[in-house]
Amino acid sequence: MADLDGKRLIRIGMLGCGVVGAGLAKLIAKHRPDFHRNGFDLRLTRVAVRDTRKRRDCDLAGVEVTTDVMAVAGASDVDLLVEVMGGADLAVRAGCTALARGVPLVSANKAGLARCLPQYIEAARQGSAAIGFESAAAAHIPIIEVLERSLACEEISLIKGVINGSTNYILTFMERAGCEYEEALADAAAKGFTEADPRLDVEGIDAAEKLSLLALKTFGAYFHPDRIHTEGITRITQADIRLALSLDHRIKLVAAARRAGDSLSLRVSPALIHRGELLADVDSEFNAIILEGPSFNQLTFLGKGAGQLPTASAVLNDIVRIVRNPGAGSLPGFARAGAESLKLAGTDSLALCYFLRMGIKEGADRAVLSALGKQGLPILSHSAVDHNGSRFLGVITDIVEESRILSLLPEVGRLPGVAGTPVFIRLDKDNYRDIVEREQSAYFGASLQRQSGAGV
Ligand SMILES: NC(=O)c1ccc[n+]([C@@H]2O[C@H](COP(=O)([O-])OP(=O)(O)OC[C@H]3O[C@@H](n4cnc5c(N)ncnc54)[C@H](OP(=O)(O)O)[C@@H]3O)[C@@H](O)[C@H]2O)c1
Repeated sequence: MADLDGKRLIRIGMLGCGVVGAGLAKLIAKHRPDFHRNGFDLRLTRVAVRDTRKRRDCDLAGVEVTTDVMAVAGASDVDLLVEVMGGADLAVRAGCTALARGVPLVSANKAGLARCLPQYIEAARQGSAAIGFESAAAAHIPIIEVLERSLACEEISLIKGVINGSTNYILTFMERAGCEYEEALADAAAKGFTEADPRLDVEGIDAAEKLSLLALKTFGAYFHPDRIHTEGITRITQADIRLALSLDHRIKLVAAARRAGDSLSLRVSPALIHRGELLADVDSEFNAIILEGPSFNQLTFLGKGAGQLPTASAVLNDIVRIVRNPGAGSLPGFARAGAESLKLAGTDSLALCYFLRMGIKEGADRAVLSALGKQGLPILSHSAVDHNGSRFLGVITDIVEESRILSLLPEVGRLPGVAGTPVFIRLDKDNYRDIVEREQSAYFGASLQRQSGAGV
């Protein structure tokens, strides 16, 4: 750290200068007068990229550009390292090298952080260095800072959200264009809305990495993303979308961490969300996060979860926070009592409301519904749609154990009026009956049976 006309000069090394890195370079130039007003200056001194000859979407005049990532991480004229290159190998080694020698790190790399968190914690401890990763969790929603500071002593029972913009775009596109998943994925990829490897988005891996970071800050316990129950959106069909809509729901990829006593359930999976709920209206690249706790009931955050400026701006705010308060770091952060005794709950212990979709033969609606009732499936709502020459029935159940749903599916598939194997999708709300009853008493005063279609 050097002095510049009485202002503290912080020399920044940056690993990566792609979408986020170029955005950060532009924002640093733009906000220089703000830095000066606060008695410091930020200067980009070294940048590492893969290809030094590539044209960049920012001005790198006077910056030493290299392909040597470790040299930037170890340079004596770097006061703070920014990692916006991604990956869980070289990027992690470089970030940890800087931390271990006392250089603060600001990283947008959710994969590296979520997969190698213990390494970062150990390196930060060795170097007594701060780390900021606001941009890695939900880009421009300042949720890490809120959990770390504003809600440090809050008892939180649930954090859940729509935290992957690409899957949200794909599901929104399927709904609006009436197309199947593959066509929507191709559109998202063509518009640059998916990661270079789209499986990271559509299989829920990106959301699981973010959930791992969010759960760490919410409950104080670290669980590797591979331990999170993760399902993507690849099996969602147009029939699911249309049935969900006709049952007054939308389908979203929901990431949720719920604590009950010493048990923590961590889950990323598609879910039907009732259209009266805020999460149902979060479209395209927007993210939303909902917190629940006994003293505040519910808190909601909505904002841009990806993109050049939202992400770069979150990186810059982390840099400024560390520059203004060098002791402020986010790892391991505010410790929460009882975190070490938290155990991961499996999905086998779940009991929720479920949506079941099945192909049915012409004219078999009533017979199938009646057979489902005889099998003991408690049905709250049902609807049928015709799509591509086939008929599909969708039902929403009352609360049932997931193990029961799983054991019933093959039996349902063997019913005479059913064509093909049925699939299930969880409902976002544990208790859909609450929603139905609340709506009825508020608007209709009608019976549950009337709202739910034909009684079963
Ligand atoms: N984009 C978003 O909206 C967003 C949102 C939240 C978090 N993030 C995270 O931010 C990070 C960066 O994302 P991005 O969208 O900016 O990625 P990007 O556009 O692909 O940029 C990656 C940069 O890293 C450089 N790089 C990659 N591997 C390298 C290596 N082995 N050696 C040297 N340089 C290397 C690339 O160099 P070249 O340019 O020479 O290829 C490029 O400049 C990722 O961890 C991502 O998950 C992104």
